[in-house]
Amino acid sequence: MVERAHKPSAISPSTAAPQPSVQSERDRIIATLPTGDSVEVLLYGATVVSWKSNGKENLWVSSAAKLDGSKPVRGGIPVVFPCFGPPPKDHATGKLPQHGFARNSKWEYMGKNSSESGKLASGGDDSVTMDFGLSAQQLSDESKQAWQYDFDLIYSVTLGKDGLQTMLRIHNKGKESFEFQTLLHTYFKIDDISKVQINGLGSTNYVDKVLDASEHTQSDPTIRITGETDRVYKDIKQDTTSVVLDGKPRFDVIRDNLEDTVVWNPWIEKANSIGDFEPKDGYKNMVCVEAGAVNGWQKLEPGDTFEGGQILKSHL
Ligand code: BG6
Repeated sequence: MVERAHKPSAISPSTAAPQPSVQSERDRIIATLPTGDSVEVLLYGATVVSWKSNGKENLWVSSAAKLDGSKPVRGGIPVVFPCFGPPPKDHATGKLPQHGFARNSKWEYMGKNSSESGKLASGGDDSVTMDFGLSAQQLSDESKQAWQYDFDLIYSVTLGKDGLQTMLRIHNKGKESFEFQTLLHTYFKIDDISKVQINGLGSTNYVDKVLDASEHTQSDPTIRITGETDRVYKDIKQDTTSVVLDGKPRFDVIRDNLEDTVVWNPWIEKANSIGDFEPKDGYKNMVCVEAGAVNGWQKLEPGDTFEGGQILKSHL
């Protein structure tokens, strides 16, 4: 059990105004606002697997994604922790799988809340927060063996009328410090990759993983995806990265205490080589814009808490 100081109280059923509803199913929690906007969070990985606004799905999920806990979900918003990518062998995370254990562990649903403060949680009827917890004790034996620190994570997913907020709190419960990386691996659903521009990363330095991890500076303020793209933008000055479709704003990613962003699209060959990436031409309908802290390592001292996250906005 993850301990929590201020457990949320239930939404009062007595008010006449329509309330957000939160439904628990066997493997997921679904929140719906009176407007019909909704979010679905799988307990496996606390992975957001659907976020709909104005009747439209905003997130891409592969039609071959495993949702049964047998492997991380290919799509939605997997949570990356405590390492990003393949961990360096000589680091404390060195025995963990790519992107760590958070996305392939079963989280606990800790309850809903409509009154917590937060940029989207107005305290009214138009937003709802769901909290998910994962602590060292809940890990598989394999993960416990591979990373022997004591910690707990609380992941808060807030659906508001203006967007979706996902915030991760990382608490070091142990007696020694640890180093981590974290990232929110959002797969956006888009109509046509050839019409996409990504703005807000101009003049930023990045590592291009497609070009042997070489260092570059983003000279063009607008990024277009025309081939395999796997870039880690570091120390970004602007808070907001925007996905523009056909010249019109489509999504905003507003980072909160996360300085880096990965832009990823596997394109043709890589999509073909990823077993659970379907349909194979699905790369035309997705782009990942992943807010994170992945440039080097964040050190967390015993008793300390790190909090970082994002607000996603969908413009239609
Ligand atoms: C991105 C990485 O964040 O995730 C890529 O930068 C990686 O290198 C991609 O290919 C998908 O990773 P995975 O483990 O879900 O296949």
